[in-house]
Amino acid sequence: MGFQVAIDGPAGAGKSSVARGVAQVLQISYVDTGAMYRSVTYLALLQGVQASNTCQLEKLLHQIVTKIDFQVVQGEQHLFLGDMDLSDSIRSQEVTRNVSTIAANSLVRKYLVQKQRDLALSWPGVVMDGRDIGTHVLLHANVKFFLTASLEQRAKRRYDELVKKGFHPSLTELMGDIERRDQMDIERDLSPLRPAQDAIILDTSCLTQHEVIEMVVALCRLRMTQGEA
Ligand code: DC
Repeated sequence: MGFQVAIDGPAGAGKSSVARGVAQVLQISYVDTGAMYRSVTYLALLQGVQASNTCQLEKLLHQIVTKIDFQVVQGEQHLFLGDMDLSDSIRSQEVTRNVSTIAANSLVRKYLVQKQRDLALSWPGVVMDGRDIGTHVLLHANVKFFLTASLEQRAKRRYDELVKKGFHPSLTELMGDIERRDQMDIERDLSPLRPAQDAIILDTSCLTQHEVIEMVVALCRLRMTQGEA
């Protein structure tokens, strides 16, 4: 098994940016598992597939799961389905509003968790971010983090991120959406959002992205040297 870093936490805690930065410094791969749940949501909405229709949902998952791929485009990680770049489409508010329902579905989780484990095994090192990476997907990860931040901070970060991408969100609506999504992620039966027992918990409310990346990298390096000893 290569060196594995698990980063979990609620929406907008800065996981993706931190995970991307850490992977870059450590020169290992990065997987945004939230993007995978978003891509299934996007395609289910596009094809009118309901989460309750097990037959249609399994057909959809079967068709797409082997085609989901990550590629770096101009320094940014993009999610592809075959040769289709879905990176922008999966960030729409419609996908965001529906993704927690899709992510609570056992069939969806079965297919995506298997894909995530396969990806992790295919690389010499990986940083994976999500909600259940330390508690379920990579149970034996070398180091696990749980990033949190106040609801206000998290909504503001999501807001800035979306504005940068050309969307025009409302901060109040975003705060409501994030709160609802957190609640669904925390309360669901399957792999609910919670820190792993062996996770390092970091409250990033008063830290810059750069500071969080530095802390995470330092702790990973420490774990790497402990592993060699
Ligand atoms: O990180 P994000 O906001 O892009 O994640 C989208 C949704 O996917 C989020 O509401 C929870 C879900 N998710 C999950 O259940 N398990 C993961 N490993 C990653 C994301």
